[in-house]
Amino acid sequence: MLYDRDVLYIFPSANVNPKTYDRSLDQVWKKFLSYEYFLNIIMATFLFIRISPGILPIPSFISLNFVYFCIIISMIFNNYTEFNLAKEQCKSCEIGKIYNRVVLSDGNTMNPNVMVVGEAAGSSEVEVGKPFVGKAGKLLRATLNEFGFRKSNSLITNVIPCRPQDNKFPMDNQLILNCFNKWLRQEIIITKPKFILLIGAKSVKYILNMNGITKIRGKFVEHEIEGLKIMCMPTLHPSYVLRKEYMEEGKIIKQQFRDDIKKVAIASGLIEEK
Ligand code: URA
Repeated sequence: MLYDRDVLYIFPSANVNPKTYDRSLDQVWKKFLSYEYFLNIIMATFLFIRISPGILPIPSFISLNFVYFCIIISMIFNNYTEFNLAKEQCKSCEIGKIYNRVVLSDGNTMNPNVMVVGEAAGSSEVEVGKPFVGKAGKLLRATLNEFGFRKSNSLITNVIPCRPQDNKFPMDNQLILNCFNKWLRQEIIITKPKFILLIGAKSVKYILNMNGITKIRGKFVEHEIEGLKIMCMPTLHPSYVLRKEYMEEGKIIKQQFRDDIKKVAIASGLIEEK
């Protein structure tokens, strides 16, 4: 199963300097360690055993249909591996050159219940190599977890997989659109999430092509990408929730954030409505 992808983050260590980090060796390891390639090797071995009677004994439990099934599954997985390797090497705009590290998505890449889309990677994300691992990320992940979302049923990502200069979301609309069309849009098509949780105004802008978050948060919006219809739930960014934490409206804002995530959990059948 393509569940816990932690194995993909063994190399390099979290202490690596993101500015001098070299991806090439890391990629070789990743390719070897990835589930997809491991699966492929097993399937190729099965197929070899199956089509070479006389050379090797054929175990009775391996039917040809099983082999075909596994090959199809591994081909599906491989789409994502190839996609990830290409994404990781992307340097097609100036943002990708700043920290020399693309933060890959984290979670289940095959038909997850929810794809969670934030804005862009920050310093903690570049250091660890996963999206949403800083303070705001901890709040987001804890809330997702509380409502039944796990690594096995969700995929966490960002509109921009790189860290922009000074953590400021770039103003260059065309640059972001290019990045979105090249990566996030394709990732949605490949992974086919059942729901998309749009974290903050940027993901609403680039996925739904709508402006603002306050008016549309908490309401499901159906969105179609290449014939794929996905229900999207816009919600507040956890950084905003944290910024407002000690203000008068802080409790309401946090409650809204929780309610929105809960709605997705109910709609995807992870929890029951009470
Ligand atoms: N970390 C992320 O990965 N994305 C955000 O939008 C904010 C913090």
